Amino acid sequence: MTPTRLDLCRPDDWHVHLRDGAALASVVADTARRFARAIVMPNLKPPVMTVAQAEDYRRRILACLPPDARFEPLMTLYLTEATPAEEIEQAKASGTVFAVKYYPAGATTNSQDGVRDLTRIYGVLEAMERHDLPLLLHGEVTDPGIDIFDRERVFIERHLMPLQARFPSLRMVLEHITTREAVDFVSEGPANLAATITAHHLLLNRNALFEGGVNPHHYCAPILKRETHRTALLQAVTSGNPRFFLGTDSAPHPRHAKESACGCAGVYTAHAAIELYAEAFEQAGKLDRLEAFASFHGPDFYRLPRNRERLLLQKQSWTVPSDFALGDATCVPMRAGKTVAWSLVEG
Ligand code: DOR
Ligand code: ZN
Repeated sequence: MTPTRLDLCRPDDWHVHLRDGAALASVVADTARRFARAIVMPNLKPPVMTVAQAEDYRRRILACLPPDARFEPLMTLYLTEATPAEEIEQAKASGTVFAVKYYPAGATTNSQDGVRDLTRIYGVLEAMERHDLPLLLHGEVTDPGIDIFDRERVFIERHLMPLQARFPSLRMVLEHITTREAVDFVSEGPANLAATITAHHLLLNRNALFEGGVNPHHYCAPILKRETHRTALLQAVTSGNPRFFLGTDSAPHPRHAKESACGCAGVYTAHAAIELYAEAFEQAGKLDRLEAFASFHGPDFYRLPRNRERLLLQKQSWTVPSDFALGDATCVPMRAGKTVAWSLVEG
């Protein structure tokens, strides 16, 4: 019988976009209400490239938290071809920066300062391997000759496999994986390779992009894939394999930037993050596997303590608002105007 309450070790979000300024103030409470910690993505404008910038950003996040929040932002650096190897040593010693994010230039939102030629960052990767600082990969090629649905698979063959061969001790997280090929690659890979999986990629296949017409609110990077890939992701998260863990990739954009002739990539899920994951695990008949995926595997990989607090969910559906304020704009969240089957028990 399906339980109607879930008592979980408080989870963490190992991949989230909190944005900055007025947008940050609008979204951070959603994440802090559910998660004890979050790996905060650095793709601001300008990007967070140095430890000093990461620490400033961290202070801005803390300043926006509700007074009763217990939430720790875990900062990341945005890797560019100009990142000096010395920054890695400083990051490792900082106690505030926990990883470095690789964006292929042109792959997604604010990635124009990312990496064009991987050989130019070998010195930095060597320093990361030496200092044992994890590399977080947006794993998609940007080659215009490669079909958008194949970008992740080709990245693994062209870039990830050579990186592993060259830096065998580097801890790597393939972020927001979307394909059966990525699931297989990580499942068969070494202990220092892990992957995050989003709630939207567990709950939606690519039909959701075109349901009743083009739906820009389901457009994200990597793009949604076909149903066979979604079921492979569900299988991975419910397998108990410790190298798969929760990362929402919650990525708010103003409504006008999504509902536009050239709409931005990103799905906002922080308002219902753990609840949406609970739906996906319930769908797979494996609710008993949610806690390890959401609360144990991430800290174990990052070598941080598991949280001591608990988070309670109950099987009670609620209707998601049609939009909410995002700074002086609005944002349309996942399931806008529709229901989510699980809710938080606030306490
Ligand atoms: O859909 C996405 N949105 N994927 C990313 O990689 C970046 C993110 C964003 O920052 O909007
Ligand atoms: Zn992301």
